[in-house]
Amino acid sequence: MRSSFLTLVALTGHHTLTHAADISNLASTLQTLSTSIFPPLQSIATSVWSHPEIGLDEHYAHDLVIDYFTNTLPNVWDTITPQAFGLDTAWRLEFSTPSSTSSGDGDLPVIGFLAEYDALVGIGHACGHNQILLTALTAASLTRQALLDLGIPGRVVVLGTPDEENAAGKCLLRSQSGGAAYEGVDVWMMAHPTNANAVQPMNARVNAITDFRGASHEEAVRRAYGAMVAVRDLVTQGGLPGTSSSVVAVEEVGMFECNIVQGQISLGIRGVELDVVKQTVDGLLGGDDGTYPGVSFTAVADKDGKGVNVTALGPGGHASESTKGPLVLTVETFRALSGQDGVEFYLPGNTTLAELGVVFDIRSRYTQDLDLVLETVEAAIKGSSGGDSADITITTDTVYPALEVTPFLPDLFTSLLATPEYGSQTDFPISTFAPASTDAGCVQQAVVDPDSRKLVGSEKVVFHPNYNICDAANSGGKCAFNHEPGFATAAGTDYAYQRTEVIARALADVAVRLLNDPAVMANATAILA
Ligand SMILES: *[C@@H]1O[C@H](CO)[C@@H](O)[C@H](O)[C@H]1NC(C)=O
Ligand SMILES: *[C@@H]1O[C@H](CO)[C@@H](O)[C@H](O)[C@H]1NC(C)=O
Ligand SMILES: *[C@@H]1O[C@H](CO)[C@@H](O)[C@H](O)[C@H]1NC(C)=O
Repeated sequence: MRSSFLTLVALTGHHTLTHAADISNLASTLQTLSTSIFPPLQSIATSVWSHPEIGLDEHYAHDLVIDYFTNTLPNVWDTITPQAFGLDTAWRLEFSTPSSTSSGDGDLPVIGFLAEYDALVGIGHACGHNQILLTALTAASLTRQALLDLGIPGRVVVLGTPDEENAAGKCLLRSQSGGAAYEGVDVWMMAHPTNANAVQPMNARVNAITDFRGASHEEAVRRAYGAMVAVRDLVTQGGLPGTSSSVVAVEEVGMFECNIVQGQISLGIRGVELDVVKQTVDGLLGGDDGTYPGVSFTAVADKDGKGVNVTALGPGGHASESTKGPLVLTVETFRALSGQDGVEFYLPGNTTLAELGVVFDIRSRYTQDLDLVLETVEAAIKGSSGGDSADITITTDTVYPALEVTPFLPDLFTSLLATPEYGSQTDFPISTFAPASTDAGCVQQAVVDPDSRKLVGSEKVVFHPNYNICDAANSGGKCAFNHEPGFATAAGTDYAYQRTEVIARALADVAVRLLNDPAVMANATAILA
């Protein structure tokens, strides 16, 4: 570090102990820099938004970034690494100032920015990762230029991380590189677009992936729905262990796959009159059983299936995890009617399939509770099938560890946002509610006290604020949540890009403060073991 400098300054009797540059005009300097730096980077993000690619297939986004900094705007980054750490769509950019110091780059303070750019099957950038790419490129480029302009020594790294949604790309980068992907950088920053502002923790996550088979289509559907009823009972009867644990079923039909909020679900019912079906579903929707916010249904005679096609519409999955979405309405409809003799269930338009895949998306506030939640859900699924549980195979995917809020940076960031240069945003709370999951937990590697659940250490500092990109005033107050199709639209609006510019600029402001003053860096990294 620069301790020799500190000693020298201290000995010569200056009032300040640090050799920090004067950054009193930093916010306006960054504003000026952004007017030229941001627009071309926004064009990259817009192209990525228009060419959505799913995880591990982000070749267009990868090539766009590499090509831009290799050919269009060369000589910005000292090193540009395509296909970094053996992953085809990972990349890394690095810059140091001064680029050659006598003491070597190893002594320079370092800041890293994490980029994401994967989309969701069928619904494009419905998690807004085009904006995460833009945040990383903008914040890093602004930080770099500010270091140069203000004469602050430091190093900036940008890491392009593939597949946040499904394969836990940041975990993959860690294992693939033997940890090297995050080495040498103590503080990593990023920001995630959503429909509310907050610095908040993120849940641990794992998917239990099941495939229900039967001798007939109807039997497979009955088994799948039976399991979803059993898992719903866990939720409604408070049977999930851990803190704020949740489990949401995702039925693998149509374009809906794991991770995509299911806005429309159809269930076919045979052996019950149309009127009775309508009354039953109506009763569930309006019943004192709780609410289904924004959910509606249609029930029509289905000539092909010789039954009734009940279709529920509305926000689903994690958009309504604490309430009830369309799939829950069909699950409760199944529960209400399945006891009657001669009643059969099927998927309208799909009556020949003899298997039905369901993914149970399991989340819990703390990583250490996830195994127990998973076991509880697995037991309910197996128990739902009576003696046939041997037929059910349940596999799991990569665990996303919880992301904890590290102290210090949230206060610095939100206090900057409250100033005029960042739009005087006073509505940016630091909250304890975890709205979703992120693979950035694999970068942080938080250590939480088993009893108090307090953060006691971590391998890296990861700062990951969530920010609103929905222009509520101009969307009739309706803002889609991440993984709903409507969120892809929000992620491509001018409003979203303006929001990202401000957030990225504020992250750059934080980064420059960290690089400029060892005391600030020491506070930000105090949590590291
Ligand atoms: C029927 O199932 C197949 C395979 O899961 C799926 O691709 C298709 O979209 C489904 N169709 C409907 C109408 O659910
Ligand atoms: C079932 O009804 C929904 C809503 O009306 C419709 O979108 C869907 O195509 C229907 N399915 C079949 C197979 O007719
Ligand atoms: C670092 O943290 C200490 C203790 O909270 C505080 O007194 C000090 O002002 C902080 N320094 C900087 C530069 O942020």
